[in-house]
Amino acid sequence: MKDLAILGASGHGKVVAEVAELNGWCVTFFDDAFPDITQVAHWKVVGRSERLIANLHQFDGCMVAVGDNRIRLQKQSYLQSHGLECIVLIHPTATVSSYARLGKGTVVMSSAVINPFARVGECAIINTGATIDHDCILAESVHVSPGASLAGGVSVGALSWIGIGASVIQGVTIGPRAIVGAGAVVVTDIGADSKVVGVPAKEIG
Ligand SMILES: CC(C)(COP(=O)(O)OP(=O)(O)OC[C@H]1O[C@@H](n2cnc3c(N)ncnc32)[C@H](O)[C@@H]1OP(=O)(O)O)[C@@H](O)C(=O)NCCC(=O)NCCS
Repeated sequence: MKDLAILGASGHGKVVAEVAELNGWCVTFFDDAFPDITQVAHWKVVGRSERLIANLHQFDGCMVAVGDNRIRLQKQSYLQSHGLECIVLIHPTATVSSYARLGKGTVVMSSAVINPFARVGECAIINTGATIDHDCILAESVHVSPGASLAGGVSVGALSWIGIGASVIQGVTIGPRAIVGAGAVVVTDIGADSKVVGVPAKEIG
C-alpha cells in the first residue's frame, strides 16, 4: 500500500481521506491549525506541516485538504518547494474524460463529472456531484462546490469559489478570486474579486 500525507484534518480532509482510501492509499493526517489533535475517525494526526517535511521520505504522495482556496494553494506551494509530490485524487464514482486535464493536488469528489477538453488547474476541489462541461478552463485553486454546474467553455479565474448548486451558462468568464453564491445562476461575465448571488446573479458587497 502507498502512503499518503494529507495536510488538513477538517471535514473536507475526511472526505479527501475516504477518496484516497478508495484509491488504495494509506492515509496519515497533518494539520497546522489544530496540531494538538492526534486522531480523526480512524486516521492518525501526526503534527504540523514542518513535521511532514521532516519525514517526507516516508510518504509516496501528499494532498492539501484545506477548504480556503488561498491557504490551500499556499500550503501546496510550500510542500512542493520541499520536494513533496502532490497527487490527483478521483473518487471511483466520478466521471473524468480521458480528454480532460487535471492539475496536481486536485480532488474530484463522488459523482462529479468532468467532460472532454476541460482543463482544471492545480489544487482544485471539484466537489460532490459538480459538473464541468467540455472546454471549461479552471485556473489554480478553484473550488466548485457540491452540485454546481459549469456549462461548456466557461473560464474560471484562480482562487474563485463557485457556491453549492450554482449554475454558470456556456462561455461565461469568471474573474480571479470571485465568489458565486449558493444557488446563483450566472449569465454574464463576472469580474475579478466580485461576489455575486441570485437569479440572474448580481454583485453584492
Ligand atoms: C455568497 C456568500 C459567500 C455571501 O456571504 P456573505 O458575504 O457573508 O453575505 P451575507 O450573508 O452577509 O449576505 C449579504 C446579502 O446577500 C444575501 N445572500 C447571501 N448569500 C446569498 C445567496 N446564495 N443567494 C441569494 N442571496 C444571498 C443575503 O440574504 C444578504 O441579503 P440582505 O443584504 O438583503 O440581507 C454566501 O451566502 C454563500 O452563498 N456561500 C456559498 C456557500 C457554499 O456554497 N458552501 C458550500 C461549501 S462546500
